[in-house]
Amino acid sequence: MGSDLKNLSTLPKEIYKKYYKKGSKAYEILLLHSRCVATLAVAIADRHPEWELDREFLYEAAMLHDIGVICTDAPSIGCTGDAPYIMHGVLGADLLRKEGLMRHALVCERHTGVGLTLQEIIQRQLPLPAREMVPISLEEQIVCYADCFYSKSGDLMEQKTTERILQGLRKRSEDDAVKFLVWHKLFGE
Ligand SMILES: [Fe+2]
Repeated sequence: MGSDLKNLSTLPKEIYKKYYKKGSKAYEILLLHSRCVATLAVAIADRHPEWELDREFLYEAAMLHDIGVICTDAPSIGCTGDAPYIMHGVLGADLLRKEGLMRHALVCERHTGVGLTLQEIIQRQLPLPAREMVPISLEEQIVCYADCFYSKSGDLMEQKTTERILQGLRKRSEDDAVKFLVWHKLFGE
């Protein structure tokens, strides 16, 4: 933490304004959550200048990764759309593609959990398009990793411990926990 997010792009705020009512519950939760994820993502980039990451893009994508939740049925976070919550990544990606933000859209669609494989989408019969939704670029992986540390319920700003994250991931899949651990070696402090 501690990286300076000042003077970064205002693009996320412009997109938020279009789709969220300022001051609404959804707006407040999303903005706070996304700021936590963006702060951690940018801090990782700042620790690794040798990776030559696109810092501005990383910030924007982290701020926008959950933009699609507004289309989903998640009243606890102020979202009253029709779609199941698991669709928030692809719906956010559709929305960002309409805005011409193709790279940001990929971060959206590839950030659920530690990414969703085509096999998992088919086996679990998830209501998602049948394609790989696994983060590929370093920026995509960093947003996905950083997002694991923050919840959208309870204390939004509390950073989860790696043990707690692993516990959650293991409930569904040991492979997911291993993937997180590999990221943690790469991106952790
Ligand atoms: Fe998130």
